[in-house]
Amino acid sequence: MYIAITALKGGVGKTTTAIHLAAYFQSKAPTLLIDADRNRSAIIWSGQDKLSFFVASQAGATGLIKKYTHFILDTKARPEPDEVKDIAEGSDLLIIPTTPNHLDIDATLKAVELIKNFKTNFKILLTKVDSRTKNGREARNILNEHKLPLFQSEIPLLVAFERASQKGVVIKDYSDTRAQYGWLSYQSVGKEIFN
Ligand SMILES: Nc1ncnc2c1ncn2[C@@H]1O[C@H](COP(=O)(O)OP(=O)(O)OP(=O)(O)O)[C@@H](O)[C@H]1O
Ligand SMILES: [Mg+2]
Repeated sequence: MYIAITALKGGVGKTTTAIHLAAYFQSKAPTLLIDADRNRSAIIWSGQDKLSFFVASQAGATGLIKKYTHFILDTKARPEPDEVKDIAEGSDLLIIPTTPNHLDIDATLKAVELIKNFKTNFKILLTKVDSRTKNGREARNILNEHKLPLFQSEIPLLVAFERASQKGVVIKDYSDTRAQYGWLSYQSVGKEIFN
């Protein structure tokens, strides 16, 4: 399966989602995370050799394709429409992460308008959801009103995600009891994809 992660906004959790979904997919079959962002965030995350899967740059992935069953593509912030077209049409599923923040939701609605022009299967993932506020519920209502495909699972706002990236691990390997909720949330997203 070829899964691409993109958004018109930066900082919405694309790389965090790519890393955690790659960890989930790797537990099923050999998975390659392709880092197509010039910032090389996923490559840097993997730099301490503590991840269960391999991360390659786009150029570096070319010779590796035959070895893997699943591919997760992490993309840069604010891609051009042409780039979104290539990303969308080359994947089995396009995941659009968004926080419940109204500016991010607005950018997501715009991304969907663009993506609807291409032949692709896409699904929105709510990230950084703060359980102490109603923002997640409100964002879900707006997306439902627009009849957009949305993952039932959502990713909680947890400092452990940031800490895990600093330590070069996935959140399940970060020693913090709340961190396990974060891992469970990405596992649920993975299960939704396979179902
Ligand atoms: N669920 C979460 N809870 C708390 N912090 C998070 C969560 N997801 C991501 N973050 C943090 O938010 C910041 C941005 O996340 P990330 O790098 O995954 O986003 P991005 O969309 O890939 O950003 P960019 O557009 O710069 O590539 C990082 O510091 C990350 O640790
Ligand atoms: Mg990123």
